[in-house]
Amino acid sequence: MQRVVRSARTVRGAIVAPGDKSISHRAAILNAIAGGEATVQGFQRAADCMATLRCLRALGVDWRWQDESTLSIHGRGRHALREPGRVLDCRNSGTTIRLLAGLLAPQPFFSVLSGDRSLLSRPMARVIQPLRLLGADISGREGDTLAPLAIRGSPLRGVRYRMRVPSAQVKSALILAALHASGETVLELTASSRDHTERMLAAMGAEVRSVGSTLHLAPLARDLSPISLRVPGDISAAAAWLVLGACHPDAELRLEGVGVNPTRTGVLDILRLMEADVTIEDERMWGPEPVADLTVRSSRLRGTVIEGELVPRAIDELPLIALAACFATGETVIRDAAELRVKESDRIRATALELRRLGADIRELPDGLHIRPSGRLRGAAVSSHGDHRLAIMLALAGVLSRGETAVRNAGVVAVSYPGFWRDLDLVSGRPR
Ligand code: S3P
Repeated sequence: MQRVVRSARTVRGAIVAPGDKSISHRAAILNAIAGGEATVQGFQRAADCMATLRCLRALGVDWRWQDESTLSIHGRGRHALREPGRVLDCRNSGTTIRLLAGLLAPQPFFSVLSGDRSLLSRPMARVIQPLRLLGADISGREGDTLAPLAIRGSPLRGVRYRMRVPSAQVKSALILAALHASGETVLELTASSRDHTERMLAAMGAEVRSVGSTLHLAPLARDLSPISLRVPGDISAAAAWLVLGACHPDAELRLEGVGVNPTRTGVLDILRLMEADVTIEDERMWGPEPVADLTVRSSRLRGTVIEGELVPRAIDELPLIALAACFATGETVIRDAAELRVKESDRIRATALELRRLGADIRELPDGLHIRPSGRLRGAAVSSHGDHRLAIMLALAGVLSRGETAVRNAGVVAVSYPGFWRDLDLVSGRPR
């Protein structure tokens, strides 16, 4: 599907960001092995989280929709999963395949995890190798580096492991496996990454202790208590509107109930460094997660350097930051972000290539991007490379460009944000 986007004279309105994708996956998976029924409001009904729900159903988990975005899940305890009768299709979702690898490694049955073309090319050794240290019998294509993954469930033992990649997906896979291992598991974290799994598990009664930069996990002694919660708005989706509002010359946008977990707010810190006019109000807790209301107004942005600990805290938002950097004064450098090359697409290459088509002055670095100010971009034909975050970034680039921008393969926004086009029409004054 191709989508044509035109420049907007003003950008105004209030948006309810869709439920956080990472938290939705975890709410489904953890409640699936809890002992009882949970209700999850604001569950992200996007393709990625639906992939998780379908895999859980194939594993014998009961769930149903109470309304459009309220999910009830009936957990029957940690021993109730059953062998799936078919390959589990994780579609485009890295979170689904990696978290389920950890969940399934200690289960007493055989399972196979697969996905779409993009997922089949993403690195899996990062979960296979550490899970094997715990005793998992897991293998993959091309010398255990790629999916499909075949898992013959086996008893696991707790280990001490130093994390090599700053990945919340890998960390969460190991946490899920450790819950069913014998003995304690200690993870040495070399960099911080989103901690939604740890927060949710602690709220469900698991023994998860953070000591400095190590995480201590005790095997489950009893079933987890189900957790009913309201899922915060996804800061990765909200970031699109923050960048649009900051870059557009006549903008004011308000976003309510956005997750502001400090492991995810790198984008707010970066926008602050760039002197964007973003206000954060009424911080409060929704279950184990903090949320706040955000307002963004037209800003005079300044270029900056993004590196080190900021990178994992803003990893999914970096293509949007590259777009913002086109409108700043001064240069912006993003480095330490080689992980972007192994996301749903090579986001370093694709971001540089597609923004250049719109007239941006942007160059690839091995581990990031170098952007010089280009001011207003000019409409052109661009491609999402089948990547939802790229499709969203390029649509916003279109709103900020002169003339028309045609985004090819634009339907992929449904992977994380099915209501994106509706919200775009709403804020750019083109209600359908
Ligand atoms: C996610 C973790 C990040 C992120 C992805 C979602 C998660 O990936 O890019 O969109 O839900 O744990 P990595 O863990 O590979 O960095």
